[in-house]
Amino acid sequence: MSFEHLFSPHKIRGLELRNRIFSSSHQTILARNWCPSEEMAAYHEARAAGGAGLIVMESASTWGEGAFEPCYLDANHDACIPGFKRVADVVHRHDCGIFGQISNSGRLAGGYDGLLSVPNAPSTVPDYRFHAMPRAMPTEDVWRLIEAYAQSARRMVEAGLDGIELAASHGLQLAQFLSPDVNRREDEFGGTEERRFRFIREVVTAVRKIIGPEPVIGIRISANEDEPTGLDTQTVLDACRRMDDLADLDYLSVVMGSMAGLGSSTHVVPAMSFEHAYTAPHAAKIKDVFSRSVFVTGRINQPQQAEQILAQGQADMCGMTRAMIADPQMPNKARLGKLDDIRACIGCNQACIGHYFQGVPISCIQNPLSGRELALGVHPGTGTRRYILVAGGGPGGMKAAAVAAERGHRVVLCEKSGQLGGQVLLAQTLPGRREFGGLVENLNHEMQLAGVDVRLLTSVNSALLDEEKPDAIIIATGALPFTCDAEITQDTHAVEAWQILRGEASTGNSVVVADWRCDWIGVGLAEKLALDGCRVTLAVAGVHAGQNLQVYVRDNWAGKLHRLGVEVIPYARLYSADGSTAYFHHMAHGDPIICEDMDTLVLAQGHQPVTTLENALRGRNLEVHLVGDCLSPRTAEEAIYEGMMAARQV
Ligand SMILES: Cc1cc2nc3c(=O)[nH]c(=O)nc-3n(C[C@H](O)[C@H](O)[C@H](O)COP(=O)(O)O)c2cc1C
Ligand code: SF4
Repeated sequence: MSFEHLFSPHKIRGLELRNRIFSSSHQTILARNWCPSEEMAAYHEARAAGGAGLIVMESASTWGEGAFEPCYLDANHDACIPGFKRVADVVHRHDCGIFGQISNSGRLAGGYDGLLSVPNAPSTVPDYRFHAMPRAMPTEDVWRLIEAYAQSARRMVEAGLDGIELAASHGLQLAQFLSPDVNRREDEFGGTEERRFRFIREVVTAVRKIIGPEPVIGIRISANEDEPTGLDTQTVLDACRRMDDLADLDYLSVVMGSMAGLGSSTHVVPAMSFEHAYTAPHAAKIKDVFSRSVFVTGRINQPQQAEQILAQGQADMCGMTRAMIADPQMPNKARLGKLDDIRACIGCNQACIGHYFQGVPISCIQNPLSGRELALGVHPGTGTRRYILVAGGGPGGMKAAAVAAERGHRVVLCEKSGQLGGQVLLAQTLPGRREFGGLVENLNHEMQLAGVDVRLLTSVNSALLDEEKPDAIIIATGALPFTCDAEITQDTHAVEAWQILRGEASTGNSVVVADWRCDWIGVGLAEKLALDGCRVTLAVAGVHAGQNLQVYVRDNWAGKLHRLGVEVIPYARLYSADGSTAYFHHMAHGDPIICEDMDTLVLAQGHQPVTTLENALRGRNLEVHLVGDCLSPRTAEEAIYEGMMAARQV
């Protein structure tokens, strides 16, 4: 594929971008003291060096310290200028443009130091996600806020950023002024469509006045917020027509959804259950009413998709954000035609937005170097070439093998089954999770490029080690289903989750899934069995189904289970099963929960480590490293990280 559109330059105002790929604004939790840090500069430099045409930095608020934790950016004070300058300088070194994003959350709550901040909003209309009751800003505060937007823009431009993006997307403050349901003001900023638009108009005018004619100004907007009090398609199109009249405004950047609701927020970082590039037709509609540049973002994870969007004229620039979190070199690889080498994002949301919700720096399950650029840098080369044997071909073993070989070691990976992938092979069979299998394809390709010798149907034991005599072994033998203490009588039809996923067991019509982990397996099995026509009860040992999943993934699944009529019983710890009855304890008060008329009990009770090889090697004079589930069953993220770290040590 020639990518004639993707790698053509794009001019916005006076700025020429080298190609049409941009990294859209995303929180990294790499801000320190509300300012861009060295870690943040290194993070963005990696994407600029990887060939991105433009980077839009994460949103910075204009409210001042005390509104948010210091791991978020705040552009309300001049002290942020050196940090922004540091990022601008390193990004510019690689011929990449850089914009700052200014955004206030308005009615959506923030907080600092354990205290909730005041949600300053157009009106006292609460949302259904953050449960904050907002303060309707007095008119003079609205004018002060407009000035705060302008001053923040000035600081960013003084720091050397090429442009300013104003976030009117995802139900944020600028969008709240546009919405007739959220903005119920009767002053000059509400009451009619024109007056609801006035806030945006005034902000754009004030920003242009202070930053002068050269820097770019854009607005990010959701084409549809998909939320009861949010902006619908028509309201957005009408607003975009008005934006077209603002000569100071250079581009619109299109997304979907709103942070104000549980369902609508799943669009903010759409997981793998969303179609690739599903936002592009919406951007095309906005392109019909806005005559300058239109950007689009949303599950565009391969250059071929981006090329098609551009070729069809649906947008002028493509946001490929997680695509470059997973593989910062994606643009360079595409330009050089090395498409197979791209480590495609699989839309799992685990370490990028997942880390955000845990309040820890961004990363990627497939690429643990992401977000750790400064701490880890590139993999160190090896002085002496050693023979490294890896036992186990799941994600942890595969990553360990790839990195050890990339460093220059001779690496043999032995997998006792006939297929690489470990538990990923099961996980990818859950409904809507096929893309998770991309993890294995990507790791396999990494191993091939690095020259790993893969031996399938090969168990590692003492005899093999005597023969092979490796210098070190990395054990990644994974886990097996956990046998829990519940007393289950012979006359109960009980099957393991893995048996269903492997197609080794079938169920009766009425199924109870006993879910200990509260992650993908329980909700995924419940969906699969309900789709197969079963009456499903999902009894979870947690406060709700999918408790331990990234919230956008969880909420997307909650909607599906509800539609399919799956009954969810929270706080349910499996105690026993007797014939067609399963008994649970309510985890808060200990009372019994009884599920009757059950044909099959599906056990999703977690996993236990496989330690056979570790035990067999105890006392042997051999360097041993353990990674992933054979230490303690967790997720692919830990397995891959530990595999990489072990490979950096051998
Ligand atoms: C960790 C993370 C944080 C995000 N924070 C922001 C943000 O601060 N402002 C914003 O407009 N979008 C934010 N987003 C949304 C992204 O800009 C982008 O729209 C989303 O990731 C979908 O694009 P993709 O499929 O190319 O990743 C965030 C996304 C991620 C993954
Ligand atoms: S963690 Fe998952 S969704 Fe996030 S960038 Fe990596 S592969 Fe993509």
